[in-house]
Amino acid sequence: MLLRKVHLSDCETLFRWINDMEVRKNARYTDVVSIEDFTDRFNKELENENVYSFIVEKDSVSIGQIKLSKDEERIVFNYSVDKNYRGQGLGTEIVKQGEKFAKSNINNINKLVAYVRGSNKGSCKIFENLNYTIAFSNDDYVIYEKNI
Ligand SMILES: CC(C)(COP(=O)(O)OP(=O)(O)OC[C@H]1O[C@@H](n2cnc3c(N)ncnc32)[C@H](O)[C@@H]1OP(=O)(O)O)[C@@H](O)C(=O)NCCC(=O)NCCS
Repeated sequence: MLLRKVHLSDCETLFRWINDMEVRKNARYTDVVSIEDFTDRFNKELENENVYSFIVEKDSVSIGQIKLSKDEERIVFNYSVDKNYRGQGLGTEIVKQGEKFAKSNINNINKLVAYVRGSNKGSCKIFENLNYTIAFSNDDYVIYEKNI
């Protein structure tokens, strides 16, 4: 598995993934994302030095994405696996690769964080398996954290 930086030409693939049913269901805002809003956000993030966006490739096929956003001394994860490749351990591997990138390439951070809907059993499992602790939870979402 390889994390490669997102290019301008990935806009269409990422737009398709962001409106995947499971991705919307598990997102903070569940409404369908319009192409205009997505393109605007995509272009801004490409220029934002605190956002590290990657396409995840396996055997040269794009199978998912991960975005690491630096917020003060924390890195917040956002990630997904293409629906055709779920249930094969790839989500777990993507988070591990994201951790590895953050630790070796991003300065002045002390915490890895993920906001996960409580109903998103797969993602909760991933952070629990990777020894994150629950910093906060309510009826809606859980904040997982790991000190680094
Ligand atoms: C969440 C997501 C990334 C998981 O990816 P994946 O490649 O299917 O995950 P894995 O195969 O690594 O599975 C991780 C663990 O969760 C479990 N799991 C996966 N889906 C599950 C489900 N629906 N219910 C219960 N457990 C589930 C697996 O059994 C596995 O546990 P184990 O390692 O202890 O056996 C993927 O479903 C996805 O892209 N969802 C939409 C976007 C999203 O929710 N992103 C995360 C936002 S926080």
